[in-house]
Amino acid sequence: MESFDQIKKDFDFTPKDEERLKQLKPVMEKYLDEYINELYDFIFRLPKAKQYLKNEEIINRHKKKLKEWYLDLFSGVYDERYFEKLHKVGEVHDSLGVPTHYINASFNFTRRFFIRKINEEFGYSRERNLYVESVGKILDINLDVFTKSYIEEEISRYMEFSRLEKKLIKAAKRFKDFLDLALLVSLIFISFFVIGLLGFDVYKFVIGEVHFEEGIIATLGSLLILWAVVELMGEEIKHLKGGGFALTAFLGVALAAVIRKILIASLSPEDTKKLLAYGIILLIIGIVYYLLNKNVKKGD
Ligand code: HEM
Repeated sequence: MESFDQIKKDFDFTPKDEERLKQLKPVMEKYLDEYINELYDFIFRLPKAKQYLKNEEIINRHKKKLKEWYLDLFSGVYDERYFEKLHKVGEVHDSLGVPTHYINASFNFTRRFFIRKINEEFGYSRERNLYVESVGKILDINLDVFTKSYIEEEISRYMEFSRLEKKLIKAAKRFKDFLDLALLVSLIFISFFVIGLLGFDVYKFVIGEVHFEEGIIATLGSLLILWAVVELMGEEIKHLKGGGFALTAFLGVALAAVIRKILIASLSPEDTKKLLAYGIILLIIGIVYYLLNKNVKKGD
């Protein structure tokens, strides 16, 4: 990490900025609780915030630490200790896996909050512009140090690997990308077969090879599978674009296939044993689907 003096220089952060932030302290202290409440409303609108701030104990500790951070921001003292503290905050977020995107978004919220309050307090004046400038600098410095400690953590973890390990990691990543693409191509192929199955069901229905009721049910079953395959392709595309992968989409296809079988078997009175077996399979997949979905929602 650069020396804290160099960081201040790079951001053109002068003793005048330090003085202005100190002057702002009594003004901004009034808004501390309002800031914490609004920031928390904002953070909990981020889709996976609960994954990190998962219980009352962590939330209370975080709120306490946020208050300290807020007061330090307007303390007027930005020495080596201050910078070390910031660096540690970055490391803590990184070690918990909090996405940098969430930190950037929260900082953007913080900047808007501060500007709103300064505008309310000082109106549109030269004084207000200078305060906004100094607040902007200290927030950017904070974000810079937070993000840098993330990158340093990532680099140091990577540097620990030997050259052979690094090559293996790269090769494995390329192979994984290839497999992802192969999966998508296979899904495209399969969707053609499912369309074929749908067409075959319609054909059998139209030429009267199957009973009217059976024809409609088989067609609906094929449509259900087609819908599930489309969902699965959607998930795989999201995954290729860098998102996660919903295992539940795979189970959705299995559910659709078993439901189709049940619908068809239900029309034949001789197939009671088959129907019972399908029922049990459906129940098991259904339970796994429910449990997985419950966990995904908890994670959100
Ligand atoms: C304005 C943005 C934020 C600031 C200024 C901030 C500040 C802090 C500070 C000062 C700490 C204490 C670090 C230490 O122990 O030294 C901390 C910890 C933590 N932060 Fe943040 N944070 C921010 C955003 C977020 C967001 C968006 C999340 C998650 C969605 C998050 C999750 C956490 C968690 C889980 C901890 C550890 C709490 C514990 O168990 O002690 N923070 N944060």
